[in-house]
Amino acid sequence: MAITRERVGTLHAGPPRIASAWLLVVTGLVYALGRGLLRRRRAELQVERIFELSLDMLCVVDEDGYFMRVNPAFERTLGFTTAEILARPFMEFVHPDDRAATERAFAAVLGGETVTQFENRYLRADGSFCWLQWSTRPAPDEGRGYATARDVTESRRTQDELRNAQRLVQASRDELRILADEQASLRRVATLVARGEPPERIFDALVVEVGRLLGADSAGVQRYEPDGTSTLVAAWGDPGHGVPVGARMPAGPGTLLGDVRLERRALRRESSGAGTDPGLAVRLGDMGLRTIVAAPVVVEDRVWGLIATAWRGDPAVPLETEDRIAQFTELVATAIANAEGRAELAASRARIVAASDAARRRIERDLHDGAQQRLVSLALGLRGAEGALGPEHEWVRAQLQQTADGLDQVLDDLQEMSRGIHPAILSKGGLGPALRTLARRSAVPVELDVDAGCRLPEPVEVAAYYVVSEALANAGKHAQASVVHIDVEDQDGFLSLVVEDDGVGGVDPAQGSGLTGLRDRVEALGGRFEVVSGPGRGTALHARIPVDPPALH
Ligand SMILES: Nc1ncnc2c1ncn2[C@@H]1O[C@H](COP(=O)(O)OP(=O)(O)OP(=O)(O)O)[C@@H](O)[C@H]1O
Ligand SMILES: [Mg+2]
Repeated sequence: MAITRERVGTLHAGPPRIASAWLLVVTGLVYALGRGLLRRRRAELQVERIFELSLDMLCVVDEDGYFMRVNPAFERTLGFTTAEILARPFMEFVHPDDRAATERAFAAVLGGETVTQFENRYLRADGSFCWLQWSTRPAPDEGRGYATARDVTESRRTQDELRNAQRLVQASRDELRILADEQASLRRVATLVARGEPPERIFDALVVEVGRLLGADSAGVQRYEPDGTSTLVAAWGDPGHGVPVGARMPAGPGTLLGDVRLERRALRRESSGAGTDPGLAVRLGDMGLRTIVAAPVVVEDRVWGLIATAWRGDPAVPLETEDRIAQFTELVATAIANAEGRAELAASRARIVAASDAARRRIERDLHDGAQQRLVSLALGLRGAEGALGPEHEWVRAQLQQTADGLDQVLDDLQEMSRGIHPAILSKGGLGPALRTLARRSAVPVELDVDAGCRLPEPVEVAAYYVVSEALANAGKHAQASVVHIDVEDQDGFLSLVVEDDGVGGVDPAQGSGLTGLRDRVEALGGRFEVVSGPGRGTALHARIPVDPPALH
């Protein structure tokens, strides 16, 4: 700057006027040009420094795909020397999986587009890859492109970890929901089992629960029959493909039903996939099914039947499906074992009650045909002897008469007893007349209302008779009652009895055997027996007996 000023001073000292003016103009121009060049040079130096010092990666790329210039940030980030970076096409540094996208972005830049936020993976000297985020500025006239890049590996890793964590949270939420649904489903079925609902009701509820829970298209329960077939006992969504509930199906060897029975484990069949029996695959395909999973129901070491679920299409059925069905098969097995146990208990109670009734009937017959007839003929003999005696044997006649009267008394007592042992009137006249006889003989006045016209099976009539008989005996013995109401009704397949007194109440069945015996008798027929008796509020016996008891079949 100082030199330039000196030169200007020298030019002012020159000769003629025009020449001096010309010189002045030229000098001015040279000065101005010099200042412009200097400014430009200074600006270039500043750009150069920024280029060198920038923490971001800055580069110029030619249209052949080579770096023309890179700043030192390239060396720092990638670990290669600048010479190594410039020597190879940049695409060689790009991760193979990102090359197609990079090619597209590069073509766009060469075509004059500005590409920003483009990310790809770049090779480092140590063999690892880092994620770079690019912003480019095209210069198509110059046949090159300018770009900056930033290493975003860390932030991407953090983002990936965050995404993974979110996925994990979502997955565990999904798992929890599945588990909760499964537990709720199991609880609903288990509640039915615990309540002692009939197995058919449990099966019906179960197929709906299993089918919905597993996202299946159909579900069914099959029971194996002794003849090698099986019966569809419950269905949801047409598992039998047109076969109705109650219908038989072949369950021999080679069928899925037969294989589950034989192998005693859950089996899966697919309409496609390795190891699938081609015949079965075709059959499944014909039925429009993709997968069937069937699990055996094992009751006390015997394969009772199975639960089968079927899916029509994708997605693939998860592997744990077999285990999930198995939890339901255990509930079914418990329900069946309970029901069979109850049925056996009822049948054995019914056998005991029937045997004791038969014994009573035999005793009554024996008394009637044996001892009673003997007593009748003895009394007749005595009356004959009494009549044959002359007036001189007055004392003997009086003795004979007294003995004959005593015999008549014993006969009456015996008849009374034998009636109690087995109600002969019941066999002859039916429940109505038998209850009326009981009412007549009762120590407490009775109001009787019988609405049961036709004859019922003998065990049902006998049970009803004994309920009334015991209730009247108890009312007389314990209740201090003034009246007993008896209500008998034969309706909707049940004989319902209510015997109610207005006495002291406070029954405790453990104090005697009468009420316990009644409960056994009624429940043996599949009926219900209940005693309602609060202290000071009288006593009511309620019995409800099916008129066609299952225990009699
Ligand atoms: N109608 C009633 N009113 C008040 N208490 C009753 C009545 N019926 C029964 N009880 C009470 O309940 C107990 C049990 O009755 P339950 O009929 O089982 O036996 P019990 O009559 O004592 O003897 P049994 O075995 O001869 O019938 C009785 O001992 C009595 O205390
Ligand atoms: Mg009693």
